[in-house]
Amino acid sequence: MKNITCIDDLRVLARRRVPRAFFDYADSGSYNEETLRANRADLEAIKLRQRVLVDVSERTLATTIIGQKVSAPFALAPVGLCGMQHGNGEILSAQAANAAGIPFTLSTMSICSIEDVAEATGQPFWFQLYVIRDRDFSKDILSRAVAAKCSALVLTVDLQVLGQRHRDIKNGMTVPPEIRLKNIIDVATKPAWAWSILNGKRKTFGNLAGHVKGMDNVNSLAQWIGTQFDPALSWKDVEWIKKIWPGKLILKGILDADDAKTAVKLGADAIVVSNHGGRQLDGAASSISMLPKIAEAVGSDTEVLFDGGIRTGADIMRALALGARACLIGRAYIYGLGAAGEAGVAKAIDILKKELDVAMALTGTNRIAEIDGRVLVGGEVKKKAARAKLKSKTTQG
Ligand code: GLV
Repeated sequence: MKNITCIDDLRVLARRRVPRAFFDYADSGSYNEETLRANRADLEAIKLRQRVLVDVSERTLATTIIGQKVSAPFALAPVGLCGMQHGNGEILSAQAANAAGIPFTLSTMSICSIEDVAEATGQPFWFQLYVIRDRDFSKDILSRAVAAKCSALVLTVDLQVLGQRHRDIKNGMTVPPEIRLKNIIDVATKPAWAWSILNGKRKTFGNLAGHVKGMDNVNSLAQWIGTQFDPALSWKDVEWIKKIWPGKLILKGILDADDAKTAVKLGADAIVVSNHGGRQLDGAASSISMLPKIAEAVGSDTEVLFDGGIRTGADIMRALALGARACLIGRAYIYGLGAAGEAGVAKAIDILKKELDVAMALTGTNRIAEIDGRVLVGGEVKKKAARAKLKSKTTQG
């Protein structure tokens, strides 16, 4: 791991170690991947403001997210099929997150189940839910999340239909892997991966198997999933969830200021400004370009979280400067998991923390709460303009 110095190194290693179908599943965006690329390009275009000779000897990354103390302003995002990047992937990622003092989110479409992760880690984690056609299933899985003491529910709201990822179709991506000659050769050249999967607790969707009526074999489960995304999903369902979920509620997949306002009205504790990592509406704006307007619309009652393209600590700073309280990290940690299991996830978290720490030092920042427009080139001008506007408003009485 000594030569792993950045998230891109983990990606290169993951690509070598994980069978193509699963690496591509995590790596891809939908259709032409315009939004996937825009997420990165728009982050990189935001320039940080270098400041010198500020005493930055008291730096700390510690903050809170939805009232929960964290060692740094980010959490591990829900990612489907984590346990296909490495055997027991969800448990290992949760353990790395716990050791690092940041939240882990378990996807509905995980391989290890809610109960597996709760039992192995003994610590609360966040649980992600898709509301699907089978509302009884949603109710049932929520009570399982309550029983497992999940500390927050991350409700994904941008997946009423699935954006097509070309590579998944071309690779014949299924769980467990489809037996095609191409796949057999691929897996045969990835012995460490195959060993970890063989020794993993499960080989299929752990949250679903045994919980979907009449669907115990893997093929019918896969068919069931395909029919379960619900185009009729609406804000009414969010109200319903709010009634039956007793804990904190985070709505993930908001990319519009009006939608953000509705989320606030319905009492969401937080929203995640997100385009699903460029995996849903291709041609949608980058997450970072929509963040400032949404943060402004939301005000201070609901926390604004951010995802989409984060690969460096500087990216986290950019998102915080534009109004996010914290970020969710998806691919960045999945590459670590594929590259080296728990140690790889720990490495990804450590890389991002160290990069953010240095970015804070070199922008003259000691505390996460101090990160605002002033750390951006051009941001200080906007700040002055806002102050002037406020002054003229107050003097106008
Ligand atoms: C599911 O959420 C996916 O993006 O594949």
